[in-house]
Amino acid sequence: MRTLKVALLGCGVVGTEVARHLALHQDDLTARIGAPVELVGIAVRRADRLRPGVPEELVGTDAAALVARGDIDVVVEAIGGIEPAGELIRSAIARGASVVSANKALIAAQGGELHRAAREAGTDLFYEAAVGGAIPLLRPLRESLAGDRVTRVLGIVNGTTNFILDKMDSTGEEYEVALKEATALGYAEADPTADVEGHDAAAKAAILAGLAFNTRVTADQVFVQGITGVTAADMASARAMGSVVKLLAICERGADGESVTVRVHPAMIPLDHPLASVRGAYNAVFVEADAAGRLMFYGPGAGGAPTASSVLGDLVTACRNRLAGTTGPGETVYRQLDVRPMSEVVTSCHLDLDVEDEPGVLAAVATVFAEHGVSVDTLRQHHGPAGTSLVVVTHRATDAALAATVEAVAGLSRVRAVNSMMRVESR
Ligand code: HSE
Repeated sequence: MRTLKVALLGCGVVGTEVARHLALHQDDLTARIGAPVELVGIAVRRADRLRPGVPEELVGTDAAALVARGDIDVVVEAIGGIEPAGELIRSAIARGASVVSANKALIAAQGGELHRAAREAGTDLFYEAAVGGAIPLLRPLRESLAGDRVTRVLGIVNGTTNFILDKMDSTGEEYEVALKEATALGYAEADPTADVEGHDAAAKAAILAGLAFNTRVTADQVFVQGITGVTAADMASARAMGSVVKLLAICERGADGESVTVRVHPAMIPLDHPLASVRGAYNAVFVEADAAGRLMFYGPGAGGAPTASSVLGDLVTACRNRLAGTTGPGETVYRQLDVRPMSEVVTSCHLDLDVEDEPGVLAAVATVFAEHGVSVDTLRQHHGPAGTSLVVVTHRATDAALAATVEAVAGLSRVRAVNSMMRVESR
């Protein structure tokens, strides 16, 4: 019986768990695949680091030489980042190896090109681990829902920011304080930029949108706003109206059927929305489809072992395909839908204003909304020690109209301050 040879690129948090679980479940994996699977080499940047459970004799620093061997069946890429990961994957594919990757940034930027290379070489390219850690999400979109028509994908796809927002919500702390706690506990990296500025979630949103709508979306087409501007006042304002703030990735098919919008930004959602109860570093994604209705996928979205679970699932499939002399479904893009800008997205907005408490203020604020064609859904006024505040939640309008309304309201002489302004997603 032939043995399937696997090379592992990168042996950090995820790579270590992949190697460990491969060894741990060797017999089961062999039975499931129908042939033994052998890890034949591990390429790392620094060979002198201790990696418990990883066979030391397999570790080396020459990744290019490892993928160039020519006898590798599957290359598992767990390095991350665009380069050298991209070059190594291209080289592996060119030599006829299938590739399993956890690299959302690379797939979101170059997925089309890499899929084309894999198709031409007759190999598999799988990346379930790139979105949502352990949560089976890409395979359901690509395969289980292939007979349906997905209309919307809405979710929490970044655990670091969900942890920080959750902390801010439960403690009333400001962003900087919650970020420090997240860093101390290992939830945020030393440089948290990719997570807190929303770029990690944007790459995942691009991948989800591409699979959901069978079109190509790259990360640079995703509107992105991170959580660094979210304040304790925003959280308090959300609480006061029975909501919570979450960083959402939202991919929607346009009503015309010819366009999509893809965005990542903080939003208030009602406490009874199922995403409101997603706590800590967990991820959850809703998929809405014509026939299926509303599906929810939930689980650990990061971490070594959960991410390794998805990598190993892909590895088993890639190995089975090698044995059968076939490949699984490749990129499912068959048309190019127009990716529309944020200004055209239809959403609602919550506005918490500090106002003078005198005749005509309400009328002045209401006039601005009317002038911009934005309808008010609810309006609440309350008096506190700091003065009078007006809380307005709008009906749905284009993001451009909402932004212009907020700017005009903020410019009114009797509006002293905008305490909080945030988009609202109620469905
Ligand atoms: N940094 C990501 C997160 C995990 O915080 O969710 C890897 O995708």
